This record gives sequence, C-alpha cells and structure tokens, in this order.
Amino acid sequence: MSDKKTGGAGLRGQSAGETKLCTVGQTGSGLTYCGYDVADLAENVTFEEVAYLLFNGDLPTQQQLDSYKKELVTMRDLPQSLKEVLKLIPATSHPMDVMRTGCSFLGNLESESDFSQQMRVSNRLLAAFPAIMCYWYRYSHHGIEIDCQTDQPSLGGHLLKLLNGKTASPQHQRVMDVSLILYAEHEFNASTFAARVCASTLSDMFSCITGAIGTLRGPLHGGANEAAMEMIEKFTSPEDAKAKMLLMLERKEKIMGFGHAIYKTEDPRNVIIKGWSEKLAKENGDTALYDISVACEELMSIQKQLFCNADFFHASTYNYMGIPTKLFTPIFVCSRLTGWAAHVMEQRANNRIIRPSADYTGSGPRKVISISERDESLAM
Ligand code: COA
Repeated sequence: MSDKKTGGAGLRGQSAGETKLCTVGQTGSGLTYCGYDVADLAENVTFEEVAYLLFNGDLPTQQQLDSYKKELVTMRDLPQSLKEVLKLIPATSHPMDVMRTGCSFLGNLESESDFSQQMRVSNRLLAAFPAIMCYWYRYSHHGIEIDCQTDQPSLGGHLLKLLNGKTASPQHQRVMDVSLILYAEHEFNASTFAARVCASTLSDMFSCITGAIGTLRGPLHGGANEAAMEMIEKFTSPEDAKAKMLLMLERKEKIMGFGHAIYKTEDPRNVIIKGWSEKLAKENGDTALYDISVACEELMSIQKQLFCNADFFHASTYNYMGIPTKLFTPIFVCSRLTGWAAHVMEQRANNRIIRPSADYTGSGPRKVISISERDESLAM
C-alpha cells in the first residue's frame, strides 16, 4: 500500500471540480466568498448578507436584505410533529445527531419535490436550524418547551435568545454574527464535498444536507471546536497547558483545533475569532481560558510549527458567551448550511455524477472453490 502522503490519500492537492463560491489559501487574507475577503465581510456585513451572497452571487441592496430577513423570520417555526420527534431524543444524545435527525425528518414533512424549490428549502433550513437545536436542548436539558419564534430580527440574535430565553447583548449578537460569517463557507471541505457528491446523483436538498451534517460531526472536521474546549478546560494554567500538551505530543496525539489540510502557515479566520476571544475575556474580567489558549498556540507553533485553525479560539469565544460546549458544532451547522446549500445549487447547475476511480490493492485474480474445499484448506 502506498504512503498516505504520496499516494494521493484524502484527494489532497487535487482539484475535484469548479466553484464560483470560494477560494481557500489563494488571495487576500486567504479566504474569499464570491470574491470578497472574509476579513472584509466579518468587519462590514451581517451573516444574512453573507447567506444572501452565497445563495445569489451578490451582496443584497438594503431593500433586498430587508425583505430577505423578513422572509427568514416567517420560516423559523417548526411543525408540531418535528417538535414531538425532538422531544423523544434523550439528553444524552449527541446534538449533531439531533441536527441530522431534525433535518432528515423535516425532509419528510416538507420534501423538495423538484429543484425549482431549492431556494425555498435552503432558506427554510437556514431559518429552522436554530430552533431544531434549541428546542431539543431546552426540552431535554431543562424540561422547557420553547416558543420557536423570537422578536430578534437577526439569525444570530434569534439563536441566542432561543438558547438563553433572553435577548443577548448587542456585543454577543455581533460576535455570533461574525462567527456565523467565518464558518459559512470553505470550498471543497469534507462536508461540502459530501453534499456535492450527494447532489451529483440528483438527490434532494434534505439528503445532501443530512449527509453533510454527518460528515461535519467528526473531530477532524467540525467537531474540533468541541474537542478543543474539552481539552483546554482541563488545563489549570498556561504552564499546566504547556506541560500537558508536551506529553500529548510525545504520545503522538492530535491536538484538536490545530493544523489544516490547505492552509500552510495560518488560518485567516483565526486572527478574527481570537481577537473576539481576547475582547470577551477582558470584558468578562476572566482571562484564564484565553491565556491558556494562547499558551497552547505558542507551544504548538514552537514544537510542531502548527497554527490554530478557525475552531481553536472559537472554543474560548463560545465559552465566554455562556454557550454549552455540546452545542458548538451544531452552531457551525447553522452557519455552514449556507455554504452546503450554495454548493448543492452550483453542482446541480452544471452536473455530472461524481464517480472517481480507485487504485486497486487487493488480491490477484482467483477462482471460487467449493465451501467444503475452503473448510479443508482452513483445517490444514
Ligand atoms: N496535532 C498534532 N499533530 C498534527 C496536527 C494536530 N492537530 N495536525 C497535523 N499534525 C501532524 C500530523 O500528525 C502529521 O505529522 P507526521 O508528518 O509526523 O505524520 C503532520 O502534522 C501533517 O498532518 P496531516 O494529518 O498529514 O495533515 P492533514 O492535511 O491530513 O490533516 C487536519 C489536516 C486538519 C485533519 C489535521 O491537521 C488535524 O487532524 N487537525 C486536528 C483536527 C482539527 O482541528 N480539525 C479542524 C480542521 S479546520
């Protein structure tokens, strides 16, 4: 078997298609959506504007944005039967399994009967995902059946109000908005590629997104923000973090939230979310988690020349906002849905079924022998 680094494992370095949606590691800060630098977007627009951009190819005018946000607000509530299903899912379930089931079940109730409905379905999922996540979480953990509508005009503010039962501060709403922008799109990452493979069979949008959720769940992909939090909360100080991480590296463990398949020197999303983590730490009057995170970053840079990806400082940022760790990756889903759906639409617009070949490494040609002969040869 060929070496994983030279044998083309993971399709690394190979182009698997064309996209107008995103570049990674090429121009500007290193990440662009439809030609806009992600740093520019995170500084100057809202998540709804980014969703509109990915779905339509251009940023909206004020009038387009106002009517888009109004449309999304009307699509937030969940059908009663979906609420009943969510109530049946135990608190011990992984919330990514809840998102997967919620998406799939909604597909049974509001199926995409033909592709002319793709925009409606994409917007419906975008509007409904925060409620799917929070309805299950608040019911299973606190016994509360929440109202899935809120008075919050933005998706980030809506999500935080569903989760906490009260309006989040303008600053927390903005941090959530920035986080959703940073997570929205990332070219042919594993979950998006899974969505495109599914789309290439001419399957429906709910199936494409359900498959993408399952792919994002793994700790090598979206699950890294949750795994990073579980690691840093075990460290008691920056010194403790460095000592324990050294031991982890000696044991050849992977440190979640570090490294990237495409970026080689830095992840452009890191500096943005790290800045918010620092700001929240100072305003909370408790910089311990931020200081520990910085110590981890320094150690990984010195020991492994590895840098933080988008997930690492998301952990402390979300923690400072009081978000439960198990919901970190589902929030990623609420955002990345925009990238997934945009890629599904792009795949459909110029489709050929995705069907690569494999290099065969198995047995040479052989003939079937009778089962008694196989038994005999084993007994020998
Ligand atoms: N911790 C420790 N070592 C790491 C590492 C990490 N987070 N990421 C990469 N490395 C090491 C690998 O062990 C490998 O070392 P080797 O040359 O001694 O075998 C080397 O760096 C190259 O890594 P590799 O696994 O080949 O990179 P990849 O492109 O296949 O994988 C990731 C990219 C993102 C999957 C990988 O960096 C990783 O697992 N990171 C942690 C999970 C994570 O944060 N995922 C979110 C990505 S946005």
